[in-house]
Amino acid sequence: MDKFVIKGGKKLNGKVSVSGAKNASLALMPAVLLTSGISRLYNTPRLNDVFTMIKLLSQMGVTSNFKDEQLEINTTEIKTYEAPYELVKKMRASIYVLGPLLSRYGYAKVSLPGGCAWGPRPINLHLMALQKMGAKIDLEQGYIIAKANKLNGAKISFDIPSVGATGNTLMAAALAKGTTVINNAACEPEITNLANFLIKMGAKINGIGTSILEIQGVDELTPSEINTIPDRIEAGTLLIAAAITKGSIELIDANEYHIYSILSKLEEAGIKITIGKNSIQLDATDSEIKSVDVSTSVFPGFPTDMQAQWIALMSLANGTANVTDTIYFDRFNHVPELVRLGADIVVNDNTARVVGVKKLTGAKVMSTDLRASASLVLAGLAAEGTTEVLRVYHLDRGYQKIEEKLNSLGADIQRVQSSEY
Ligand code: EPU
Repeated sequence: MDKFVIKGGKKLNGKVSVSGAKNASLALMPAVLLTSGISRLYNTPRLNDVFTMIKLLSQMGVTSNFKDEQLEINTTEIKTYEAPYELVKKMRASIYVLGPLLSRYGYAKVSLPGGCAWGPRPINLHLMALQKMGAKIDLEQGYIIAKANKLNGAKISFDIPSVGATGNTLMAAALAKGTTVINNAACEPEITNLANFLIKMGAKINGIGTSILEIQGVDELTPSEINTIPDRIEAGTLLIAAAITKGSIELIDANEYHIYSILSKLEEAGIKITIGKNSIQLDATDSEIKSVDVSTSVFPGFPTDMQAQWIALMSLANGTANVTDTIYFDRFNHVPELVRLGADIVVNDNTARVVGVKKLTGAKVMSTDLRASASLVLAGLAAEGTTEVLRVYHLDRGYQKIEEKLNSLGADIQRVQSSEY
């Protein structure tokens, strides 16, 4: 198992480009199950969750050819309609195969994802939507068994604008008979990317980018191609890496409108942001970082996937910041590890009270999930001395070569094989 050995205290400087979005790819890839033939996904990030999805699709008979960042997927021969526990337990986004398989083949057997590192994360909304479209759903031995001769359009209203349930329902509705309306749909850019891909395949969708989607089902969809949007969470993580080390970087290929909430909070914290043509510059060289409260919410609010990284930044800010997660109430596994580095943070319910300290000091810390690991790396970059971040396989799930990108900006991170768990 690899760990990172980080020599802290190096200011980050230079230019770095943002990779394709993990969470967009994880929706675009299963969407190809709705077609027969070869589709091409450009700007696909080479990270472990994408490789897990390739493996999951290959078990169904899908073949993939991944060259550089171009992923070619061939769905000509689908043999099974199953997502086994062994892969779903590794990656919850596997649930995205449920909608397309059911809609196209009338049958899907998908392992229930179970809990995750920071809470239950139910899938009731995915199942409710498919049932409303006429699916018969049984739970047997830990598996969802979904059947439908033909899904029918339905009026669906989500209590919570779930990203995954919106994506699954969109894919299912694209081939359903009649019109489906998804009310209180997620508006995340990854959902917009998926909807645009479905349109390119021949789907009829109105309201893209809004919280009411109307899908007119069609009989057939054809293979297509699409550019994956840039990863807004990687962009935010790189910006905070520069901010926390009082550096100055230029991000290439980020979409400012996807990260507006993050840019705005960074400015409130006293960090200089300049938007250029196809670039975003951050300059924290002369900044005294101020404490700024954050409450996560759905897009275009501040993303829960940046909560841990914001806490890392606030741990070295001037003042006290309250960081509240309204999406995942228990997503604070990084806090005790940040405290090991000298941070002053107390969690009450779903709010972390972060009192800025003058310095963090290197120590061994443990990754518990993807974004928690990112926050530990950020803290390690700013800490005095050496920080060892164990179990970086969590990080490898969602960031493409993050240590290489950070080292290209002047960080000192070594990936080392380790027997420590
Ligand atoms: N929820 C339900 N029932 C459902 C589905 C969701 O109650 O059937 C609740 C969840 O428990 C949560 C809220 O709704 O409180 C939002 O969950 P959502 O369904 O939107 O999350 P997701 O689709 O499972 C995606 C991302 C996550 C990201 C969330 C929120 C992917 C593959 N994953 O998850 O990304 O945190 O949206 O933005 O797109 C990450 O990249 O680190 C990550 C965890």
